[in-house]
Amino acid sequence: MVLISGGGSNLLALLEATGTPGFPAQIVAVGSDTDAPGLDYARQREIPAFIVRPGDHENRPAWGDALLDQIAEHTPDLVVSAGLMRILPPNVVSALSPRLINTHPALLPLYPGAHAVRDALAAGATQTGVTVHIIDAGVDTGPTIRQATVDVRPGETEADLHERIKTLERPLLVDVVRDIATQKIILEEHNEWPS
Ligand code: GRF
Repeated sequence: MVLISGGGSNLLALLEATGTPGFPAQIVAVGSDTDAPGLDYARQREIPAFIVRPGDHENRPAWGDALLDQIAEHTPDLVVSAGLMRILPPNVVSALSPRLINTHPALLPLYPGAHAVRDALAAGATQTGVTVHIIDAGVDTGPTIRQATVDVRPGETEADLHERIKTLERPLLVDVVRDIATQKIILEEHNEWPS
């Protein structure tokens, strides 16, 4: 199961990979907090797509319960947050983690939060990248599964840098999902930062 908020290029990479014969995982549904354009990638493939809007619920726990109800209908083995631009509420995290992962466009623990690429540029970073990690109770604080590094080019815009990060992010996320499915990655053992 994949959760998105936006254009869904990471989702598309996962859909294309999981549509390849022999790939060891399938996408059972795609969810969003909003009318994300990327939901169309699921609909075009007749994969269930659902929206659970925070604004339709009284508070964050209630939104979380509604999200968990939708997720439970599809009984996923793994939930992938791939551009979901919301912090998941604690009831969702405790119900799903560690089988709940996120992709983040920075080398965590550097530049957590919603503006990771902008923050890396503002800090004058010469390198940044992408982190796939388990979601825990914090914001972008969970154990790292895998990272990839990108050199920042002088004068580069946020949009250009983010695009270059995403060209690494998409295959990294596909690899992680494959390796979780084949148990090369055991999420239950990823409860520490790598040394
Ligand atoms: C990705 O870089 C993700 O890490 C970040 O938002 C971007 C989503 O891109 N949180 P897309 O919607 O998958 O194209």
